[in-house]
Amino acid sequence: MAAAAPERPGRDRSRLPASLQAVLRFRRLELDPTTRRLAHAASVADLRLMARRRLPRGVFDYIDGGAEDERTLTDNERAFAELSFEPRVLNGVGTVDPSTTLLGRPLPMPLVLAPTGFTRIADPEGELAVARAAARAGLPYSLSTLGTRSIEEVAAVNRGAKWFQVYVWRDRGLVREMVQRAADVGYEALVLTVDTAVLGRRERDVRRGFTLPPKVGLGTLVDGALHPSWTWRFVRSEPIRFANVVGRGVGDGVDAVSLADYTNRQFDPDLSWRDLDWLRTVWGGPIILKGIQCVADARIAADAGIEAIALSNHGGRQLDGAPAPARLIAPVVDAVGDRIEVICDGGIRRGSDIVKAVALGARAAMIGRAYLYGLAVGGERGVDHVLGMLDADMRRTMALIGARRISELTPAVVGRA
Ligand code: GLV
Repeated sequence: MAAAAPERPGRDRSRLPASLQAVLRFRRLELDPTTRRLAHAASVADLRLMARRRLPRGVFDYIDGGAEDERTLTDNERAFAELSFEPRVLNGVGTVDPSTTLLGRPLPMPLVLAPTGFTRIADPEGELAVARAAARAGLPYSLSTLGTRSIEEVAAVNRGAKWFQVYVWRDRGLVREMVQRAADVGYEALVLTVDTAVLGRRERDVRRGFTLPPKVGLGTLVDGALHPSWTWRFVRSEPIRFANVVGRGVGDGVDAVSLADYTNRQFDPDLSWRDLDWLRTVWGGPIILKGIQCVADARIAADAGIEAIALSNHGGRQLDGAPAPARLIAPVVDAVGDRIEVICDGGIRRGSDIVKAVALGARAAMIGRAYLYGLAVGGERGVDHVLGMLDADMRRTMALIGARRISELTPAVVGRA
């Protein structure tokens, strides 16, 4: 019998529809625009680009920008990128558990949501959306003194771990009062930001004459018209104000102010280590010093009995040229890690960055911009999306490096890229 002629690829037209059928898959049309946007955001970097398209330029730049030449801003991320992993294989990573404890409280993963000023410019729900998402994920949320939702409003939507961040105002009575309010409604820790003796020069804001809330001039009108969904929500929501100091005669943020003018007028640049004793008289709980940038100050904090420090340069928004927190973790933990908990804040964009920070000795990492991009793109669900991605990233990274639990994240798992 003559052998059948071999099939010639491309000639058998009758098979084409079936093979096409096998590969053609259309995504179900998603009608909800937020779900649609978030489905396309595979990373925090994607959300950042989407936020850039959705927010008026001045608003995006206020969130995204850093001080002066933005060298520190860039370096914060680069310091993580320069670290690689030394993966171990065949380690039975069927179950990976990223849970830990921080200040004695169990957490599902080593992550804290940092305080961010003026959060409602990203989305009108602002701090309430972030606080709800944090509570759902079981992670601590820190409310900023310069929050646009009040201490009490946030406490009403977040029964979980929450911290209150203070700047020390010239008016100490105001600080005492805010701290008391925070204690009354269940905030567990006080975050004292110590890197803001004066405000850093954020040149993107200077160039745009950016104010909080944004002033409506010709440029803002054009910018607003180009970003109608943000503008529509902004004009329909109640005025954005410094919700914690309304009625205290220090300006509530309703009148457009330059943040530099405002903070330089209101915050006390004479703040010193001695003031910690005063703070202890008005707050009985744990204190976290946020903005420690060298080993010597970490030692003083530990000697002073402070419970935790956040290695932070304010996301590159203060001193340009400050060291990246990722590079400080190992020396600081070496010096004081047995006496004080060390948190790393700055440049965290992926779960793998959290893994690196913890492997170097940090107890937890903090994110600010990462969740703000999510908030700007998808409101509360955008924040959920970011926290979900970081959790999944972290579990995947741990599995791929052969670490089953936090105690297995040691300096041995990181190397230089
Ligand atoms: C506020 O803390 C800011 O960095 O803008």
